[in-house]
Amino acid sequence: MKLKGLLTLKDLSTKSIMDIISYSLDIKNGLSVSYSNKRFATLFFENSTRTHYSFIMALKKLGIDVIDCNVGVSSVQKGESLYDTIKTFESIGVDGVVVRHTKDEYFKELEGINIPVFNGGDGKSNHPTQSLLDLMTIYEEYGKFEGLKCCIIGDISHSRVAHTNIEVMERLGMEVYISGPEEFNDGSAKYLDLDTAIEEMDVIMLLRVQFERHTESMSMTKEEYHSRYGLTMDKVEKMKENAIILHPAPFNREVEIASSVVECSKSRIFKQMTNGVYVRMASISMVLDGKL
Ligand code: NCD
Repeated sequence: MKLKGLLTLKDLSTKSIMDIISYSLDIKNGLSVSYSNKRFATLFFENSTRTHYSFIMALKKLGIDVIDCNVGVSSVQKGESLYDTIKTFESIGVDGVVVRHTKDEYFKELEGINIPVFNGGDGKSNHPTQSLLDLMTIYEEYGKFEGLKCCIIGDISHSRVAHTNIEVMERLGMEVYISGPEEFNDGSAKYLDLDTAIEEMDVIMLLRVQFERHTESMSMTKEEYHSRYGLTMDKVEKMKENAIILHPAPFNREVEIASSVVECSKSRIFKQMTNGVYVRMASISMVLDGKL
């Protein structure tokens, strides 16, 4: 039987994606949804603040009881497999799990799990709820996707956020480009020089330099990165009047983003975090109702 849940956006039609966004907006606007007889477990095998606690907040707002599994003191440390760990939660009566794992497409090893799995990020491949919250934030701004231009700037090659967004944004009719250091250009979208990107885009999406994923050290210092590719206020002033800045966070202040830009009028970074709770509530609700 096919694994249930939300694993990758590649499995979802553009209609389903629009349905999630519209349901997220309904919930944000006050629609109440409740599943007080359900229990979920969260399993984070990689560090996380936003995704982890936003999922917990979403579950709590849905009235769902949460077991926040501390994988560091679980039998994972005794060598238990991901499948066996999740099967254990299924066996003790959990109705769904949220999983973040370092392994790309870890969910391909989970055939035989009968409860839904919500992907909080796998390796460099997928981060479906991050992309949904990015899309919701763009949609709130522009009311459409068709024809909008977005450039994702920075550590593209190590970023599941970039890889997820490029695929889905193109399907939704957006023009997607990448920019930043050539050493991070993995060819996943057309490369644009930074000045053109700053001046012509509707959405500038910055990425954290993901030092923990690098196998070789970056060819430049953080200071050099900031002066060549960092988004500073003088660059923000060259952006289109209505253009917005997104960043999945955590951000490295004074590396890819100047501190003064984090909360400037074009930044939607904290709004993205707020919207994250709603897209997670909507996705969980739709899966539990059999609508996804
Ligand atoms: C991102 C992630 O973990 O993929 N953060 C997030 O979920 N908000 C990006 C990152 O860590 O840089």
